Amino acid sequence: MRAWTLDLTTQAQSEGYGVLAFNVIGLDHAEAIVRGAEIERSPVILQVSQNAIRYRLGLVEPLVAACRDLADVATVSIALHLDHATTRDLCERAARAGMSSVMFDASADDDAANIAQTREIVDWARTAGVAVEGEIGIVGGKDGSVTTDGGLTDPDDAARYVAETGVDLLAVAVGSEHGMTRETRIDLARIGAIREAVAVPLVLHGSSGVPDDDLREAVRRGIAKVNMSTQLNAAWTGAVREYLDANPAVTDPRRYGEPAREAMVDLVRAKCRLVGSAGKTTTS
Ligand code: G3H
Ligand code: ZN
Repeated sequence: MRAWTLDLTTQAQSEGYGVLAFNVIGLDHAEAIVRGAEIERSPVILQVSQNAIRYRLGLVEPLVAACRDLADVATVSIALHLDHATTRDLCERAARAGMSSVMFDASADDDAANIAQTREIVDWARTAGVAVEGEIGIVGGKDGSVTTDGGLTDPDDAARYVAETGVDLLAVAVGSEHGMTRETRIDLARIGAIREAVAVPLVLHGSSGVPDDDLREAVRRGIAKVNMSTQLNAAWTGAVREYLDANPAVTDPRRYGEPAREAMVDLVRAKCRLVGSAGKTTTS
């Protein structure tokens, strides 16, 4: 059943669990995420990034239509979200395709420019009926950027950013970085301080590098949306590699695609249990 990102994350915030937002690159990803969520009776968010749309030859509709159709027939609540968009045009195309929320990422700009641009997106989003996720601070690892101490989100700045932009969800920089295949520690106390300063659901980016214990604690302290991509891709690629190493003559993608999809299902299930969303779906 298709759901709204804001409904899923608001409920998670009030009940103290996290909702995973997994990045979808292709149909196999979407199928695995939905299947894993259904087995765990968990709500989940299918998110498609600007970079994934670029990989899909710049077309929004084919991939989003597949996600939409899978969500419509799923037996758990599934929301669709646009991840890391930097243009209004892409946000508008995503909304037309049926996404219920967009992340507008102007975090690379200074705070004043970030606020001004994000405010414009929020004004448009109110008329389009979609929610907006904004970011203040720097979560490194995307397009060559790095996290520095100076890039971590300050709680007072976060409160001002939310008040001045009107964003519905807030992505925070607390030490995680995108695309990590090793573990990193995050500033858990900072999450608690930001949680006290702002009312909207908080989003953690770069969750793949966060150790399980820290991720569980981050949710306990106030993270409501947990963005995860690299671990899902690692599960997929690892299974493909293992299969092809053992069966080098295989040419049919279904032969290695099936175990790869199953590896993603297992990963989704484990993370749903970790963040406490397992058993939280509201649909039959
Ligand atoms: O927006 C997507 C996420 O922040 C994914 O980060 O690949 O490090 O899990 P990750
Ligand atoms: Zn991200």
